[in-house]
Amino acid sequence: MEKKKVVGFSFGRKMSNTDVMIKQALLECQDAGMDIQFIRGDDLNIHICTGCCACVGGLMSGKGRGTCVHKDDWDIVEEALMSSDAVIVGAPTYEFTPTGNFKVFCDRMGPSHDKTFRGPAIEKGVAEGRDPQTYPDARSMKPRVGAMITNGGARTENWLSFTLPTMYAFMFPMGIDVIDQYKYYGAMNVEHVIGRSDVMERMSTLGQNIVAALNAETEEERIKWRGDKEGTCPVCHQDMLTVGYGKNKVECPVCGIEGTLDIVDGEIKVSFSEEQQNRSRLRDAGKWEHSNEIRDGAMTQKKVENLKELKMKYVGIGE
Ligand SMILES: Cc1cc2nc3c(=O)[nH]c(=O)nc-3n(C[C@H](O)[C@H](O)[C@H](O)COP(=O)(O)O)c2cc1C
Repeated sequence: MEKKKVVGFSFGRKMSNTDVMIKQALLECQDAGMDIQFIRGDDLNIHICTGCCACVGGLMSGKGRGTCVHKDDWDIVEEALMSSDAVIVGAPTYEFTPTGNFKVFCDRMGPSHDKTFRGPAIEKGVAEGRDPQTYPDARSMKPRVGAMITNGGARTENWLSFTLPTMYAFMFPMGIDVIDQYKYYGAMNVEHVIGRSDVMERMSTLGQNIVAALNAETEEERIKWRGDKEGTCPVCHQDMLTVGYGKNKVECPVCGIEGTLDIVDGEIKVSFSEEQQNRSRLRDAGKWEHSNEIRDGAMTQKKVENLKELKMKYVGIGE
């Protein structure tokens, strides 16, 4: 049987906390017989997304592969992703979010790697008997699991507040089922995470969790959440909520789903119906809802009369 492959992507400094945390988890996977690969995002030359939408336009027309117009090191990332069965992604916390370069990678991931854009393009290419080089890589649709890691120098957890929720941007387009996450804060207190045996042990456990998910015999077991706590949202397991919609309505900003918040016996109770959970952008139905909305928007887009002339007023400012 072909070995399963776990790929780690780090956006930290070379051989610093994030790199080593991911490597510890990868070593655990290797010990369990998995192939491993480690990629440092900052060592690659990856250009920012220009917003041209050629990638997703090609997918929507069924004529493209979802590839980017940039000629840079993305091929390395693409092959690592396509050959993977599991992805561990780690980014330090900068300004209470993941690093800027991490977000550069996220923009290159979606929508070009969205299952609901790639899937129909693959089906069309296969149905038309075309050369596989003219449609997206069929491995795009492979089920994958993943885990997310961050660390922050601050002693207080609230200085890492947006990092893990934001890291879903790397995982959701390809439908990578996140099964574990870890946030190490107070990193400035110790010279290097190697000096924190508890954190290093937790990284071994994270690696074991990936192995358990990859070896699972049922789908339920494969995608089982193995993080330290369930979290407020039952889909993404984060504790973030958007309020302000009136009454007791709340939204999970990661999943984009509606729920309710009530105070029961002095405690906050948040619930999301099954229907809403299935609308999460982390799940297929939620992804279809959005990609259909984009397709529809592109087809029915209202044109602005005399746009070229109207824009003239702004030409030359700051150019
Ligand atoms: C520009 C910048 C902003 C940072 N902002 C935060 C922050 O908001 N919260 C925090 O906990 N640490 C912050 N830090 C500290 C880093 O998270 C910390 O140095 C971390 O250990 C770096 O990870 P690495 O060792 O894997 O590179 C910041 C560091 C830099 C360089």
